Amino acid sequence: MSAAPVPEVKWGVLGAGWLVQTATGAAIHSTAGAQLYATGARDIARAEATGASRAYDNYQAVVDDPEVEAVYICLSNEAHLPWIRTCIAAGKHVLCEKPMVLTEAAAALVFAEANAAGLLLVEAMWSRWHPRMRRIVELASSGSLGEITNYLATFSFDGVAPGNYRLSPDHGGGALYDVGVYPLHAMFALLPGVESVTVLEVDQKRNDQGVDLTTMAELTWGGATRASITGSFVMPESQLLTVIGTEGEMRVEDNAAFASYQKPTQLWVDNHIETFPSTDAYQVMFEEVSARIRGATGWLLPHRDSIRVARTVDSLL
Ligand SMILES: NC(=O)c1ccc[n+]([C@@H]2O[C@H](COP(=O)([O-])OP(=O)(O)OC[C@H]3O[C@@H](n4cnc5c(N)ncnc54)[C@H](OP(=O)(O)O)[C@@H]3O)[C@@H](O)[C@H]2O)c1
Repeated sequence: MSAAPVPEVKWGVLGAGWLVQTATGAAIHSTAGAQLYATGARDIARAEATGASRAYDNYQAVVDDPEVEAVYICLSNEAHLPWIRTCIAAGKHVLCEKPMVLTEAAAALVFAEANAAGLLLVEAMWSRWHPRMRRIVELASSGSLGEITNYLATFSFDGVAPGNYRLSPDHGGGALYDVGVYPLHAMFALLPGVESVTVLEVDQKRNDQGVDLTTMAELTWGGATRASITGSFVMPESQLLTVIGTEGEMRVEDNAAFASYQKPTQLWVDNHIETFPSTDAYQVMFEEVSARIRGATGWLLPHRDSIRVARTVDSLL
Protein backbone atom coordinates (compact mmCIF):
# COMPACT_ATOMS: atom_id res chain seq x y z
CA MET A 1 0.00 0.00 0.00
CA SER A 2 1.45 3.40 -0.94
CA ALA A 3 1.71 6.14 1.69
CA ALA A 4 -0.96 8.86 1.68
CA PRO A 5 0.25 12.08 0.00
CA VAL A 6 1.44 14.78 2.38
CA PRO A 7 -1.09 17.65 2.28
CA GLU A 8 0.20 21.03 1.10
CA VAL A 9 0.75 23.67 3.74
CA LYS A 10 -1.91 26.35 3.37
CA TRP A 11 -0.10 29.69 3.48
CA GLY A 12 -1.65 33.06 4.30
CA VAL A 13 0.15 36.17 3.09
CA LEU A 14 0.01 39.56 4.79
CA GLY A 15 0.57 42.37 2.27
CA ALA A 16 0.52 42.40 -1.51
CA GLY A 17 3.24 44.91 -2.31
CA TRP A 18 6.18 44.82 -4.70
CA LEU A 19 7.88 41.69 -3.43
CA VAL A 20 4.71 39.57 -3.25
CA GLN A 21 3.59 40.71 -6.71
CA THR A 22 6.96 40.23 -8.41
CA ALA A 23 8.45 37.17 -6.73
CA THR A 24 7.21 35.58 -3.52
CA GLY A 25 3.57 35.09 -4.55
CA ALA A 26 4.74 33.17 -7.63
CA ALA A 27 7.27 31.27 -5.51
CA ILE A 28 4.54 29.95 -3.21
CA HIS A 29 2.43 28.94 -6.23
CA SER A 30 5.39 27.00 -7.68
CA THR A 31 6.41 25.34 -4.43
CA ALA A 32 5.70 21.65 -4.04
CA GLY A 33 4.15 21.23 -0.61
CA ALA A 34 2.75 24.75 -0.38
CA GLN A 35 -0.46 26.45 -1.41
CA LEU A 36 -1.12 30.20 -1.56
CA TYR A 37 -4.42 29.90 0.26
CA ALA A 38 -5.17 33.45 1.40
CA THR A 39 -3.82 36.96 0.92
CA GLY A 40 -4.74 40.10 2.83
CA ALA A 41 -3.97 43.59 1.61
CA ARG A 42 -5.39 47.03 2.29
CA ASP A 43 -6.58 47.02 -1.31
CA ILE A 44 -8.47 43.78 -2.01
CA ALA A 45 -7.77 44.02 -5.75
CA ARG A 46 -4.06 43.63 -5.02
CA ALA A 47 -4.81 40.69 -2.72
CA GLU A 48 -6.86 39.05 -5.52
CA ALA A 49 -4.02 39.66 -7.99
CA THR A 50 -1.82 37.23 -6.04
CA GLY A 51 -4.02 34.34 -7.22
CA ALA A 52 -4.78 33.15 -3.69
CA SER A 53 -7.90 31.05 -3.14
CA ARG A 54 -9.15 33.66 -0.66
CA ALA A 55 -8.57 37.41 -0.79
CA TYR A 56 -9.23 39.75 2.12
CA ASP A 57 -9.08 43.54 2.48
CA ASN A 58 -7.32 43.28 5.84
CA TYR A 59 -4.62 41.22 7.53
CA GLN A 60 -6.59 40.02 10.58
CA ALA A 61 -8.99 38.05 8.37
CA VAL A 62 -6.05 36.00 7.05
CA VAL A 63 -4.88 35.21 10.58
CA ASP A 64 -8.46 34.35 11.62
CA ASP A 65 -9.02 32.00 8.65
CA PRO A 66 -9.03 28.54 10.24
CA GLU A 67 -7.64 26.96 7.05
CA VAL A 68 -4.45 29.06 7.18
CA GLU A 69 -1.64 27.11 8.85
CA ALA A 70 1.34 29.36 8.23
CA VAL A 71 1.62 33.07 7.59
CA TYR A 72 4.19 34.85 5.42
CA ILE A 73 4.52 38.46 6.57
CA CYS A 74 5.61 40.86 3.82
CA LEU A 75 4.70 44.24 5.27
CA SER A 76 6.66 47.42 5.91
CA ASN A 77 9.19 46.73 8.63
CA GLU A 78 7.51 48.33 11.65
CA ALA A 79 4.47 46.10 11.11
CA HIS A 80 6.43 42.85 11.43
CA LEU A 81 6.56 42.73 15.24
CA PRO A 82 2.84 43.21 15.99
CA TRP A 83 1.78 40.81 13.23
CA ILE A 84 4.27 38.11 14.27
CA ARG A 85 2.82 38.29 17.79
CA THR A 86 -0.76 38.21 16.48
CA CYS A 87 -0.02 35.17 14.30
CA ILE A 88 1.72 33.27 17.09
CA ALA A 89 -1.11 34.04 19.51
CA ALA A 90 -3.46 32.55 16.89
CA GLY A 91 -1.38 29.36 16.62
CA LYS A 92 0.10 29.98 13.15
CA HIS A 93 3.65 29.27 12.03
CA VAL A 94 5.37 32.41 10.73
CA LEU A 95 7.87 33.21 8.00
CA CYS A 96 8.58 36.94 8.24
CA GLU A 97 10.44 39.14 5.77
CA LYS A 98 13.73 40.70 6.72
CA PRO A 99 14.45 42.53 8.92
CA MET A 100 12.25 40.25 11.01
CA VAL A 101 12.03 42.87 13.77
CA LEU A 102 13.90 46.09 14.51
CA THR A 103 15.83 45.25 17.71
CA GLU A 104 17.52 42.32 19.43
CA ALA A 105 15.09 42.63 22.35
CA ALA A 106 12.13 42.28 19.99
CA ALA A 107 13.75 39.26 18.30
CA ALA A 108 14.31 37.57 21.66
CA LEU A 109 10.69 38.27 22.63
CA VAL A 110 9.10 36.80 19.50
CA PHE A 111 11.37 33.74 19.44
CA ALA A 112 10.46 33.07 23.09
CA GLU A 113 6.76 33.36 22.24
CA ALA A 114 7.08 31.05 19.23
CA ASN A 115 9.07 28.47 21.21
CA ALA A 116 6.55 28.54 24.05
CA ALA A 117 3.73 27.99 21.54
CA GLY A 118 5.61 25.20 19.72
CA LEU A 119 5.46 27.12 16.42
CA LEU A 120 8.04 27.83 13.75
CA LEU A 121 9.16 31.43 13.42
CA VAL A 122 11.70 32.03 10.68
CA GLU A 123 13.23 35.19 9.25
CA ALA A 124 12.82 35.17 5.46
CA MET A 125 16.42 36.15 4.68
CA TRP A 126 16.06 34.42 1.30
CA SER A 127 19.72 34.77 0.27
CA ARG A 128 20.65 32.23 2.95
CA TRP A 129 18.66 29.53 1.07
CA HIS A 130 20.51 30.17 -2.20
CA PRO A 131 22.70 27.15 -3.13
CA ARG A 132 25.72 29.37 -3.74
CA MET A 133 25.40 30.91 -0.28
CA ARG A 134 24.94 27.46 1.24
CA ARG A 135 28.18 26.42 -0.52
CA ILE A 136 30.00 29.54 0.75
CA VAL A 137 28.98 28.63 4.30
CA GLU A 138 29.93 24.98 3.72
CA LEU A 139 33.40 25.92 2.46
CA ALA A 140 33.99 28.24 5.42
CA SER A 141 32.86 25.66 7.97
CA SER A 142 34.92 22.88 6.32
CA GLY A 143 38.02 24.81 7.38
CA SER A 144 39.44 24.83 3.84
CA LEU A 145 39.95 28.61 4.05
CA GLY A 146 41.63 28.34 7.44
CA GLU A 147 40.69 31.03 9.96
CA ILE A 148 38.61 33.79 8.39
CA THR A 149 40.42 37.09 8.83
CA ASN A 150 38.77 39.47 6.36
CA TYR A 151 35.27 39.91 5.07
CA LEU A 152 34.06 42.52 2.59
CA ALA A 153 30.44 42.78 1.52
CA THR A 154 28.24 45.44 -0.01
CA PHE A 155 24.58 45.77 -0.92
CA SER A 156 23.77 49.12 -2.46
CA PHE A 157 21.56 50.63 -5.10
CA ASP A 158 20.55 54.15 -6.05
CA GLY A 159 16.93 55.14 -6.03
CA VAL A 160 14.16 54.67 -3.47
CA ALA A 161 11.00 56.37 -4.69
CA PRO A 162 9.87 59.37 -2.62
CA GLY A 163 7.12 58.28 -0.23
CA ASN A 164 8.34 54.68 -0.01
CA TYR A 165 8.29 53.32 3.55
CA ARG A 166 12.08 52.76 3.30
CA LEU A 167 12.61 56.51 3.80
CA SER A 168 10.37 56.77 6.88
CA PRO A 169 11.55 56.25 10.47
CA ASP A 170 7.96 55.40 11.47
CA HIS A 171 8.00 52.38 9.13
CA GLY A 172 11.39 50.94 10.06
CA GLY A 173 13.06 52.61 7.10
CA GLY A 174 16.76 52.85 6.45
CA ALA A 175 19.46 51.20 4.37
CA LEU A 176 20.83 49.07 7.19
CA TYR A 177 17.44 47.43 7.83
CA ASP A 178 16.71 47.13 4.13
CA VAL A 179 19.96 45.97 2.54
CA GLY A 180 22.73 46.17 5.16
CA VAL A 181 21.31 43.10 6.89
CA TYR A 182 22.26 40.90 3.90
CA PRO A 183 26.04 41.35 4.37
CA LEU A 184 25.55 40.91 8.13
CA HIS A 185 23.61 37.64 7.77
CA ALA A 186 26.24 36.21 5.43
CA MET A 187 29.02 37.29 7.78
CA PHE A 188 27.53 35.59 10.83
CA ALA A 189 26.84 32.45 8.78
CA LEU A 190 30.62 32.27 8.25
CA LEU A 191 31.42 32.87 11.91
CA PRO A 192 29.61 30.20 13.92
CA GLY A 193 31.88 30.71 16.94
CA VAL A 194 31.36 34.46 17.17
CA GLU A 195 28.52 35.71 19.36
CA SER A 196 29.05 39.45 18.88
CA VAL A 197 31.25 41.72 16.82
CA THR A 198 32.84 45.00 17.89
CA VAL A 199 32.15 48.12 15.87
CA LEU A 200 35.44 49.83 15.04
CA GLU A 201 34.00 52.57 12.90
CA VAL A 202 30.65 53.50 11.43
CA ASP A 203 29.96 56.09 8.76
CA GLN A 204 26.35 57.04 8.08
CA LYS A 205 24.55 59.45 5.80
CA ARG A 206 21.00 60.19 7.00
CA ASN A 207 17.97 61.90 5.50
CA ASP A 208 16.28 64.85 7.20
CA GLN A 209 14.07 62.46 9.17
CA GLY A 210 17.08 60.60 10.56
CA VAL A 211 16.81 57.47 8.42
CA ASP A 212 20.19 56.13 7.28
CA LEU A 213 20.56 56.29 3.51
CA THR A 214 24.01 54.72 3.77
CA THR A 215 25.66 52.75 6.55
CA MET A 216 29.28 51.72 6.14
CA ALA A 217 30.89 49.90 9.04
CA GLU A 218 34.18 48.36 10.05
CA LEU A 219 33.76 45.45 12.44
CA THR A 220 36.07 43.04 14.23
CA TRP A 221 35.52 39.81 16.09
CA GLY A 222 38.85 39.94 17.89
CA GLY A 223 42.50 39.81 17.06
CA ALA A 224 43.57 40.93 13.62
CA THR A 225 40.24 40.28 11.94
CA ARG A 226 38.32 42.87 9.99
CA ALA A 227 34.95 43.07 8.27
CA SER A 228 33.76 45.90 6.11
CA ILE A 229 30.07 46.08 5.27
CA THR A 230 28.07 48.61 3.27
CA GLY A 231 24.34 49.06 2.87
CA SER A 232 23.03 51.99 0.88
CA PHE A 233 20.21 53.25 -1.27
CA VAL A 234 22.15 56.23 -2.58
CA MET A 235 25.20 54.51 -4.04
CA PRO A 236 25.77 52.73 -7.36
CA GLU A 237 24.35 49.24 -7.56
CA SER A 238 26.71 46.78 -5.89
CA GLN A 239 26.50 43.36 -4.27
CA LEU A 240 30.03 42.18 -3.58
CA LEU A 241 31.27 39.45 -1.30
CA THR A 242 34.89 38.56 -0.56
CA VAL A 243 35.99 36.24 2.21
CA ILE A 244 39.68 35.84 3.02
CA GLY A 245 41.09 33.22 5.33
CA THR A 246 44.56 32.21 6.42
CA GLU A 247 44.51 29.33 3.88
CA GLY A 248 42.45 30.65 0.98
CA GLU A 249 39.75 32.99 -0.25
CA MET A 250 36.44 33.06 -2.06
CA ARG A 251 34.56 35.81 -3.82
CA VAL A 252 31.46 36.58 -5.82
CA GLU A 253 32.15 38.66 -8.91
CA ASP A 254 28.73 38.95 -10.57
CA ASN A 255 27.55 41.89 -8.43
CA ALA A 256 24.61 39.79 -7.28
CA ALA A 257 26.01 38.20 -4.13
CA PHE A 258 22.72 38.41 -2.22
CA ALA A 259 19.88 38.86 -4.69
CA SER A 260 20.67 36.52 -7.56
CA TYR A 261 17.27 35.45 -8.89
CA GLN A 262 16.64 32.76 -11.49
CA LYS A 263 20.11 33.07 -13.01
CA PRO A 264 23.08 30.71 -13.06
CA THR A 265 25.78 31.86 -10.64
CA GLN A 266 29.47 31.40 -10.02
CA LEU A 267 31.76 31.38 -7.01
CA TRP A 268 35.50 31.98 -7.19
CA VAL A 269 37.35 29.75 -4.74
CA ASP A 270 41.05 30.67 -4.87
CA ASN A 271 41.79 30.32 -8.59
CA HIS A 272 38.95 28.08 -9.71
CA ILE A 273 35.27 28.70 -10.36
CA GLU A 274 32.32 26.71 -9.06
CA THR A 275 29.05 27.08 -10.98
CA PHE A 276 25.45 26.81 -9.80
CA PRO A 277 22.31 26.41 -11.90
CA SER A 278 19.57 29.02 -12.07
CA THR A 279 17.61 29.04 -8.80
CA ASP A 280 14.63 30.77 -7.25
CA ALA A 281 15.86 30.96 -3.66
CA TYR A 282 12.43 32.20 -2.52
CA GLN A 283 10.96 28.93 -3.75
CA VAL A 284 13.68 26.92 -1.99
CA MET A 285 12.85 28.84 1.19
CA PHE A 286 9.10 28.11 0.97
CA GLU A 287 9.82 24.45 0.15
CA GLU A 288 12.09 23.95 3.12
CA VAL A 289 9.93 25.84 5.61
CA SER A 290 6.82 23.99 4.40
CA ALA A 291 8.65 20.67 4.74
CA ARG A 292 9.60 21.48 8.32
CA ILE A 293 6.01 22.41 9.14
CA ARG A 294 5.08 18.90 7.98
CA GLY A 295 7.83 17.41 10.18
CA ALA A 296 10.14 16.57 7.27
CA THR A 297 13.72 17.76 6.87
CA GLY A 298 14.40 21.23 5.57
CA TRP A 299 16.93 23.93 6.37
CA LEU A 300 15.78 26.85 8.48
CA LEU A 301 17.65 30.06 9.19
CA PRO A 302 18.81 29.62 12.81
CA HIS A 303 17.19 31.88 15.42
CA ARG A 304 20.70 32.63 16.65
CA ASP A 305 21.63 34.23 13.33
CA SER A 306 18.61 36.55 13.44
CA ILE A 307 19.56 37.47 17.01
CA ARG A 308 23.23 38.12 16.17
CA VAL A 309 22.29 40.33 13.21
CA ALA A 310 19.69 42.26 15.25
CA ARG A 311 22.29 42.79 18.00
CA THR A 312 24.76 44.21 15.47
CA VAL A 313 22.11 46.45 13.92
CA ASP A 314 21.33 47.77 17.42
CA SER A 315 24.98 48.70 17.84
CA LEU A 316 25.17 50.41 14.44
CA LEU A 317 22.03 52.60 14.57
N1 LIG B 1 13.62 39.17 0.52
C1 LIG B 1 13.69 40.10 -0.41
O1 LIG B 1 14.24 39.91 -1.49
C2 LIG B 1 13.01 41.39 -0.19
C3 LIG B 1 12.95 42.30 -1.23
C4 LIG B 1 12.20 43.45 -1.03
C5 LIG B 1 11.58 43.65 0.19
N2 LIG B 1 11.70 42.76 1.19
C6 LIG B 1 11.00 42.97 2.46
O2 LIG B 1 9.62 42.75 2.22
C7 LIG B 1 8.82 43.68 2.92
C8 LIG B 1 7.93 44.45 1.95
O3 LIG B 1 8.75 45.07 0.97
P1 LIG B 1 8.21 45.51 -0.48
O4 LIG B 1 9.41 45.84 -1.27
O5 LIG B 1 7.24 44.53 -1.01
O6 LIG B 1 7.53 46.87 -0.09
P2 LIG B 1 6.29 47.65 -0.70
O7 LIG B 1 6.00 47.29 -2.09
O8 LIG B 1 6.52 49.09 -0.37
O9 LIG B 1 5.14 47.07 0.17
C9 LIG B 1 5.04 47.37 1.52
C10 LIG B 1 3.97 46.52 2.11
O10 LIG B 1 3.72 46.99 3.42
C11 LIG B 1 2.33 47.13 3.60
N3 LIG B 1 1.97 48.29 4.38
C12 LIG B 1 1.12 48.28 5.40
N4 LIG B 1 0.98 49.49 5.92
C13 LIG B 1 1.78 50.30 5.20
C14 LIG B 1 2.03 51.69 5.23
N5 LIG B 1 1.46 52.47 6.15
N6 LIG B 1 2.88 52.19 4.31
C15 LIG B 1 3.45 51.39 3.41
N7 LIG B 1 3.25 50.06 3.33
C16 LIG B 1 2.42 49.54 4.21
C17 LIG B 1 1.69 47.18 2.24
O11 LIG B 1 0.61 46.33 2.39
P3 LIG B 1 -0.68 46.32 1.46
O12 LIG B 1 -0.33 45.37 0.37
O13 LIG B 1 -1.73 45.86 2.39
O14 LIG B 1 -0.92 47.71 0.95
C18 LIG B 1 2.72 46.59 1.30
O15 LIG B 1 2.38 45.29 0.92
C19 LIG B 1 9.81 44.53 3.72
O16 LIG B 1 9.93 44.01 5.01
C20 LIG B 1 11.14 44.37 2.98
O17 LIG B 1 12.26 44.50 3.83
C21 LIG B 1 12.40 41.64 1.01
